[in-house]
Amino acid sequence: MASAEYNILIEKAKAASSKAYAPYSKFAVGCALLSSSGQIYSACNVENISFGLTICAERAAIFKAISEEGPGFNIRRVVIYTSTKNPVTPCGACRQVLKEFGNDFEILCTCKSKKELLLSINELLPQSPAIILPSED
Ligand code: THU
Repeated sequence: MASAEYNILIEKAKAASSKAYAPYSKFAVGCALLSSSGQIYSACNVENISFGLTICAERAAIFKAISEEGPGFNIRRVVIYTSTKNPVTPCGACRQVLKEFGNDFEILCTCKSKKELLLSINELLPQSPAIILPSED
């Protein structure tokens, strides 16, 4: 069972999943992010008839957070909710984008049955490249 401080994030991720626009896959996902600033940002997946334009809940939440906080946004915790029997982990694209905004943080994946998977970003994306700015290479 996740610690009590996760409960608000779980509720927000679940509420976000109820807003999903997923007429093609019928697979609703919600994500809630806790920023180092203490703010919480949540979002759902948004699909498109041109399937490749679909955005996952995780990236939607990150882009929302950056649009509010600016480029200094830093992730402290992440919760992903799906109304499935087993928890679902983020896709590869979302792992890469999550990693861009935090060095080490936990990701709690949970679902309708309340089963949970608690993973660190470094477990999900090991040996990822360090962020190297052009002037530092
Ligand atoms: N999806 C997410 O929102 N996050 C994930 O981590 C996995 C996949 C969405 C994309 C698409 O709308 C639907 O789930 C099916 O892949």
